[in-house]
Amino acid sequence: MSERILVTSALPYANGPLHIGHIAGAYLPADTFVRYKRLDGTDVIYVGGTDEYGTAIEIKAIKDGITPRELVDFYYEDMKKDFKNLGISFDNFSRTSLKVHHETSQDFFLKLVENGHIVKKTVTQAYCPKCSMFLADRYVEGTCPECKALDQKGNQCEECGKILEPMELIDPRCITCSTHPEVKETFQWFIRLKDFQDELEDWMKSNTHWRPNVVNFCLNWIKQGLQERAITRDLKWGIPVPLEEGKDKVLYVWFEAVIGYVSSSKEWAQKQGKPDAWKDYWLDGKIIHFIGKDNIPFHAMMWPAFLLGYGNYEGKNWKLPYDVPANEYLNIGGRKTSTSRNWAIWLDDFLKDFPPDYLRYYLTSIAPESKDTDFFWEEFQKRINDELNDIIGNFIHRSMTFSFNNFEGKIPQMDSALVDADDREAINAMHEIGEKVGTLINNFKMKDALKEIISFAKMCNRYFDKKEPWKLVKNDKAKAENAIYISLELSKTLSIILNPFLPFSTEKILNQLGITSFSWGDSGEFLLVQRKKLSKPEPVFFKVSDEEIKHQIQKLDSPEPMKKTIVNKEVKLVSFEDFQKLDIRTGKIISVEDHPKADKLYVIKIDVGEERTIVAGIKGHYDKTELIGKNIVAICNLEPAKIRGIESQAMILAADDGKLVSLLEADRDTKIGSKVR
Ligand code: 2FM
Ligand code: ZN
Repeated sequence: MSERILVTSALPYANGPLHIGHIAGAYLPADTFVRYKRLDGTDVIYVGGTDEYGTAIEIKAIKDGITPRELVDFYYEDMKKDFKNLGISFDNFSRTSLKVHHETSQDFFLKLVENGHIVKKTVTQAYCPKCSMFLADRYVEGTCPECKALDQKGNQCEECGKILEPMELIDPRCITCSTHPEVKETFQWFIRLKDFQDELEDWMKSNTHWRPNVVNFCLNWIKQGLQERAITRDLKWGIPVPLEEGKDKVLYVWFEAVIGYVSSSKEWAQKQGKPDAWKDYWLDGKIIHFIGKDNIPFHAMMWPAFLLGYGNYEGKNWKLPYDVPANEYLNIGGRKTSTSRNWAIWLDDFLKDFPPDYLRYYLTSIAPESKDTDFFWEEFQKRINDELNDIIGNFIHRSMTFSFNNFEGKIPQMDSALVDADDREAINAMHEIGEKVGTLINNFKMKDALKEIISFAKMCNRYFDKKEPWKLVKNDKAKAENAIYISLELSKTLSIILNPFLPFSTEKILNQLGITSFSWGDSGEFLLVQRKKLSKPEPVFFKVSDEEIKHQIQKLDSPEPMKKTIVNKEVKLVSFEDFQKLDIRTGKIISVEDHPKADKLYVIKIDVGEERTIVAGIKGHYDKTELIGKNIVAICNLEPAKIRGIESQAMILAADDGKLVSLLEADRDTKIGSKVR
């Protein structure tokens, strides 16, 4: 049976736009690997998606004044678009808020319960009496007890790095309403990681092909003895715990996010019309997780524990990760990326100014594979100009233009009898380079693979210079034809081995050479059709000017404030005059009926000083009987709108936290039809 590989990239939180730090860590190396594997003929799928729950999402939504649902809907689309523009070629890009993921995560939870790996424990937790909710660590803010830094979150001080318990903060307060939290008892479900201690240790020791930093990190963790970890939370936005007594709790985001890889694979299989196809990978294939180093514990330890704890699926064991290539961090200009301080290069900004392959090229050349590395605009310019243009682009372009201008716009003919030692050396290099580069990519050494390609391109240039075809064409045309034919084959080779790194530009070059489909193995073969017409060669790479770089540096140093929030993109300020135009009134619900043509809608009659009919989408949230007699608030001068055939003549106001919808109620004594100001 041929090899089957499933590749994943960490699911990004759908709470902000992608920046190049994300890309260098988990996405670009994975995409390069997958593109190589596809060319190599391996059965490989690449899945990802957005991570849509957890406090990171809730807090950003509160900050932006929108619901978590609005936030994740926006960033799911935003990220999908950015990934596409950079050529990140997911076979499926899913979301953790989909039904398939809820069901898959709940199934994992129940299996762990059934297999006895989960315990319920009482814990004390910060509770906000005003918001009537338990506060997850990051919902509590205060002063760090260690370094006295102000406004630190309850999990960790950003200034001194101290790991905190929320109530250790000096002057702790609820981030929503600033109330001093109380400490209350609640309970959570915990996974007993020690059940897997020995198995995980043996397995980790057998992972000799992994990056040592990942293995050492995990072995160190195991040595300290694996502790129980809570896998549920008291939050509203999340995947409900599938047990009666857990109905106000959700699964901890880190428990369910990793399961998202399985859900995304299931979704992929569904879309293929082969709903069981995901099992071929998860039960019989090699699973490879590309991540940033902060995600090591959850992918290399917790996730394997969940998979072991699940037990077999339809008689087979889940495959534990075959590898977890974790990358270090990419800094910007010598400083750690910080989205809150706007010290970041946003992907969509970058792609407005430069082609995607320029970013792919530079980020691969500085890939943080074994240590943190730095993005410098000046170095970006140098790499693009000196390597991509002057070494790679130059060789390809001069081979093609020479051919086009000197051989009637056609690919020349090669005469094997005239092949000399230099030609042979170049041809041999062409035969060998694919395997060399492929081996490095297989070992996730993308940076070395790119270096190998550049030395190959340098050899190509040396070959061209040594042949001096501009002289040969005048006095030995047949030899000139050989030199140029070989140069064009070398250009093809370069384009194929660069294709996983620079998919956009290499496809253009191969097209100009008349090649539309190719495999990795083709890189070492003679592929060009002699005497075939060449299309007019167009340069594919362009140099980056000093002005462009100066502009980018300025932009980085003085970013537009708050540019990257939905609020700024979508919400416009409303004048007081505009607000006064609204006719908002109190009223009472008189009757409620099902909409004859829509499952989710009610047809409601209200009294707002006069009778109005409205069509409202609150059926999933209120029973009819609960609604009748309620004092509500309605906007009464919106243009009437026909909703599924019934005219809606007002709009009742409700609060929506992304999960619960609750009607705004007027106090019982309020006179019906009073104006709301
Ligand atoms: O660190 C993060 O951005 C997480 N959203 C990564 C999750 S990876 C996996 F669990 F899905
Ligand atoms: Zn509060």
